[in-house]
Formats: sequence, C-alpha cells, structure tokens
Amino acid sequence: MPNEILLQVKDLHTWYELKKWGFFHAGYVRAVDGVSFDLRQGEALTVVGESGSGKTTLIKTILGLAPVTKGEIVFAGRRLNGDPRAFAWLHSQVGFVQQDPYGALPPFMTVRRILLEPMIVNKIGTDREREERVREVLEEVRLVPVADFLNKFPHMLSGGQQQRLVIARAMVLRPSLIVADEPVSMLDASVRVEILELMRRIQKAHNLGVIYITHDLSTVRYFSERVFIMYAAKVVEKADVREIVHNTLHPYAKALLAAIPDPDPENARRYRDVPPGEPPSLVRPPDGCRFHPRCPVKIEGLCEKEVPPDFEPARDHFVACWLYRGGGER
Ligand SMILES: Nc1ncnc2c1ncn2[C@@H]1O[C@H](COP(=O)(O)OP(=O)(O)OP(=O)(O)O)[C@@H](O)[C@H]1O
Ligand code: SF4
Ligand SMILES: [Mg+2]
Repeated sequence: MPNEILLQVKDLHTWYELKKWGFFHAGYVRAVDGVSFDLRQGEALTVVGESGSGKTTLIKTILGLAPVTKGEIVFAGRRLNGDPRAFAWLHSQVGFVQQDPYGALPPFMTVRRILLEPMIVNKIGTDREREERVREVLEEVRLVPVADFLNKFPHMLSGGQQQRLVIARAMVLRPSLIVADEPVSMLDASVRVEILELMRRIQKAHNLGVIYITHDLSTVRYFSERVFIMYAAKVVEKADVREIVHNTLHPYAKALLAAIPDPDPENARRYRDVPPGEPPSLVRPPDGCRFHPRCPVKIEGLCEKEVPPDFEPARDHFVACWLYRGGGER
C-alpha cells in the first residue's frame, strides 16, 4: 500500500510587507508565490534554488514562522493555517535541522540537557525514560561512546558532531517529518556526505517525510526521491530525482546543473549557453515568465507577457516553461 499523504501545501503565498520609514506601506516582497505539493510519509523532497528564491520562507511558512498570505497547509489531515494551536501541535511532530549547527545550539547547556529539554517542555516520559531516549538518539546519530558526549558543551564538539547533535535533537520527540534547511552548507566538505548519509539512514529507518533545502544540486543525488527547482518564489520544475538529473528541462534548472563541475564533456557542451545574471526583484517581479530577462532561449512576444503554467512533457515531470507547451498543460 502506498504511504499516506503527510503534508499538503496548496497554492501557498507568503508576502512580507515592506514599510517606508518604518511606517508607510511600501509594497510586498513576494517570497513564496503560488507553491503547491504533496509529501508522503517516508518520502524525501529536495527544494533547490539560488539565494533569495524563497526556500527558507517556504519552510518557515509551513512551520507557522512566516505569515500565510494565501493558500492552505494540511498536515496529517489537519488544516494548520489560521489556527495557532495547530502550529504548536505541529512543532511536536516536526524536527528542524538548521543551517548553522553552532548557532542553533544553546552554548551553556550540555549535550544531555539539550536533548532532555524538548521532552521536558512537552511533558513526555518519566525521568528514566527521558534518560534512555537521550542515549538512544545519541547512538542513532553515532555520537558514541555516549558517556563521552553527555556532559560536553557544544563548543567542545567539531562542526560535524554539532550537526549530529542538532539531528539528534530534531529526532528526540520521534517526529514524522524532518525539515532541513541547508544542513551541510556550513560544514567542511569532508563531513557533508557523511551527514547527508546519516540523515538518509535515519529517514529510511523511521519512514520519515523529509524536506531538504539546498542551493547545491550536486547533493540531491545522495538524498531524495523528488526534486523541486525554485526560481524567484515559484516552483519552475518538479520531477523525481533521476528524471531531473538525466532529463533537465527548464532553462534555469539547466543553469543550476551547469554550475556543478561535470567531467562528462557531453554535459559540459549541453549547458554552456546559460547566461549569468541576477535574480529579479520580488517586490516588482517581471511580467510573464520571471526567468525571461536571463533566459537564452526565450520566445519573443510570449515569455515576457504570459506566465507559463505547469506543463507535463513526461509522466510526473512538470515544468513551467513555454518551450514545453506541446507537452500537455496541467
Ligand atoms: N522577514 C522578512 N521581511 C522581508 N523580506 C524577507 C524576510 N525574510 C526573507 N525576505 C525576503 O524574501 C525573499 C526570499 O528569502 P528566503 O530567505 O526565503 O530565500 P532563500 O531561498 O532561503 O535564500 P538563501 O539561499 O540565501 O537562504 C528574499 O528576497 C528575502 O530578502
Ligand atoms: S518560459 Fe520562456 S523565458 Fe521562461 S524559461 Fe521558458 S523559454 Fe525561458
Ligand atoms: Mg535560506
């Protein structure tokens, strides 16, 4: 039987209001602008996009930490937005892994105390059960022998060990969803794969849903089943990981792939035409396709005027680009 749908995001918009002189309304930053997807239990979804494309805002909105301007978020069948108590409940169901492990850990708490805290706050378990759970999660993230770590403070750990501790803390309440925002981008290259593999192992062992945010497409292969490419607050391409790596369609997604050093000369030729350029303003985004000012293959008279809908040129492979308009609109 296929896994149940864990999270549904329907036409989500997050607009931050800008104030002039701290007072007068000066427009909106459309940080997330019409994003929809379903995530199943046990499924890992990667969201890729360059800086400022709205990745963090997307997960902050899902977690109730940024406003829902429009749209709907449903977690385990329960509608979340508009209900502050529902977000409080959600926080006990979701583990959050931040980008900067050192900044995410309280400097004056020991490893043991950091892991006990969520159980104490949520009044879960007896003292003995909590101590057992601390040992269990430390073993799971391979901070072993456990006794060597229990009384250490975060500054006594290496960057990789700190991120293992952040993952242990995210796991301590037995969540059904893990949200990881650039979890390895601040780590030494030598431990990045190790941490991603650890997260993957934990995900599989507990059948967790995962949303993994990154600006680095090269790490996607280690991790997820499905990939979304975000550009200027919109999802421009979505497909499963193999399909997106071997059959990249959107010109912007090709640009992201081109940024990965690739020893295959065929690929190097395929992606050489992608132009440099800056992402557009999200206060006054360009009309039509938001990528058109940078797009080397734009269709004059169409792309700068009409917003491309999602086309499905291959099964379960969606792309918001007029080049694929023969592929069936969805
Ligand atoms: N609190 C806020 N108020 C106003 N604008 C904001 C706020 N938070 C984010 N933004 C803007 O929203 C847009 C999306 O930001 P976001 O942090 O979601 O991007 P990101 O894809 O996570 O980028 P990065 O890769 O740099 O982390 C950016 O233009 C950013 O400046
Ligand atoms: S819709 Fe047009 S401008 Fe946008 S990516 Fe496709 S071809 Fe380029
Ligand atoms: Mg971010």
